[in-house]
Amino acid sequence: MTHSALIIGGGSHIGRAIINQLLQSKQPAQITVVSRGSQPSIYKGLAWHQSDYSEASMARLVNTFNESGRYYDQVFICHGILHDDQVSPEKRLEDLDSDSMQHVFQVNAITPALWLKHLLPLLKQSALCKVAIFSARVGSIDDNHLGGWYSYRASKAALNMLLKSAAVEYARRAPEVKLLAFHPGTADTPLSRPFSKNVPEGKLFQPTFVAERLLAILDSLEPDGELSFLDWQHERIAW
Ligand SMILES: NC(=O)c1ccc[n+]([C@@H]2O[C@H](COP(=O)([O-])OP(=O)(O)OC[C@H]3O[C@@H](n4cnc5c(N)ncnc54)[C@H](OP(=O)(O)O)[C@@H]3O)[C@@H](O)[C@H]2O)c1
Repeated sequence: MTHSALIIGGGSHIGRAIINQLLQSKQPAQITVVSRGSQPSIYKGLAWHQSDYSEASMARLVNTFNESGRYYDQVFICHGILHDDQVSPEKRLEDLDSDSMQHVFQVNAITPALWLKHLLPLLKQSALCKVAIFSARVGSIDDNHLGGWYSYRASKAALNMLLKSAAVEYARRAPEVKLLAFHPGTADTPLSRPFSKNVPEGKLFQPTFVAERLLAILDSLEPDGELSFLDWQHERIAW
């Protein structure tokens, strides 16, 4: 059977590594990508769609996928910001800012949840589908010993709760879909780069490595009605 993969937020450095792995695999997948950006010329043989991630755009795209009759067996939702031209991670309470917090929550938690809303009618037609949503260990409340990074941490914790509720509902309405909240480790991408100088030797991963780990982990998972929160080593992370 031909694999069919949908990569959302495919401009992500880890997302691009996933695309590369899928293009190079022995059983090349049919690949659909959604991104704010345009298709890089190096990519051939995939369907690239631009989106502003408004709900209207999501609905339009999912309708297009539906009409093309393509069923996805792997979906990757890559959205995530720690800093951009509007925000940087807060070090102390005085740094909190309502607009910045809303922006981070929109990208990190709300947009992925809205994708799960719009994708449900499509994914429930798949015989088997595994959906990886990029979370982060710093979204673990149990694991928060250092504080700081208020919006990033809280938005990933909120993402995890949204995914948990979605997993309960998908178990009933799309039981062949498995949801995974994935922590890639610290990967060498623009997201981590300003903060990665203290990462211990050997713990700063290349996106290619992360993509390999994620694809191997996804292969081993089966739909069980649960949301898994796993890291790149396939180890469970405390909520
Ligand atoms: N790098 C790490 O060390 C690390 C660690 C833990 C977790 N993660 C998570 O891994 C995922 C991928 O991160 P990355 O390291 O590959 O970072 P990246 O290269 O900076 O990718 C950023 C991602 O966020 C999306 N994005 C950026 N601004 C957005 C906006 N305004 N609205 C909607 N989407 C927006 C991008 O989508 P477009 O395709 O539309 O540009 C892209 O998918 C993120 O969820 C991140 O939180 C990364």
